[in-house]
Amino acid sequence: TRRILLDCDPGHDDAIAILLAAGDPGVEIAAITTVSGNQSIEKVTRNALAIAELAGLDPTVPIARGAHRPLLHEVEYAPEYHGESGLDGPQLPEPTRALDSRHGVQLIIDTIMGSEPGEITLVPTGALTNVALAVRLEQRIVERVREVIFMGGGVHVGNHGPFSEFNIAIDPEAAQIVIGAGWPITMVGLDATHQAVVTPEIRAKLDAVGTRSSAFVGGLLDFYGAAYAGHGFAHPPVHDPVTVAMVIDPTLVRAVKAPLAVELTGTLTKGMTVADLREPAPESTPTSVALGVENERFWDLVVAALSRLP
Ligand code: BDR
Ligand code: CA
Repeated sequence: TRRILLDCDPGHDDAIAILLAAGDPGVEIAAITTVSGNQSIEKVTRNALAIAELAGLDPTVPIARGAHRPLLHEVEYAPEYHGESGLDGPQLPEPTRALDSRHGVQLIIDTIMGSEPGEITLVPTGALTNVALAVRLEQRIVERVREVIFMGGGVHVGNHGPFSEFNIAIDPEAAQIVIGAGWPITMVGLDATHQAVVTPEIRAKLDAVGTRSSAFVGGLLDFYGAAYAGHGFAHPPVHDPVTVAMVIDPTLVRAVKAPLAVELTGTLTKGMTVADLREPAPESTPTSVALGVENERFWDLVVAALSRLP
């Protein structure tokens, strides 16, 4: 089993990422940290605790609140996709577990430094603020993690701007710190996640699971699907769990090695992730870019995970 740290801003798709990780035997959640993004840090942190409750996550797994705003940019949320609560739609269970008293950035550092070298895989599914701060506070984490697999960015595709994706656009400086840190890192961007869609057939499979967790995911997808329909998507893409699926089974995702950086000064393209897809990429390139995902097999993992959960 791969041990992962989820750094997230739940968020409908973040919630599904947590549930996939909690229900799949191939991964073990070492810790969860939250970051300002889809909603305020207070809201997304409460949501993370509620999802942990729903999933029956081991109460010894620490959950900590992270950064309350981006490094330089003004704070920005995504109520048009995630509602005022950050998880609009289904009724959330009341969290009974307590937050870890550490700052999320400290929990990231402690989790990595307290594990064996190469043990922890970092899986960020929100803005990269916490991870950037962790890199600056304790640079030894860069050597010590196994790899970083994050949701964000895209190649010539955007959802926040024409060429920028939300997680990168709201904190581009943090994203550049993380992408340029030198550790092995894979960008799971919109090229892949726009293929991870909920078709009516997949929705039927999810509904047939019949657990409390699958009913909850159904409620999430009702709200989230309607929000995406308003943006021209026939079927809503769930971005964040593709990262977890890639940890579980890398063959689900088509990824290529490519030099990668964030545009920080463009007047029209700030927050764009610039991948150099010219071949061959230098052997030493630490950055990879996901370009596609096998949707059916991806959902098979989610369905199986939901059937193992309460
Ligand atoms: C990303 O932005 C957030 O709204 C989602 O949770 C996902 O992480 C998609 O662009
Ligand atoms: Ca997210």
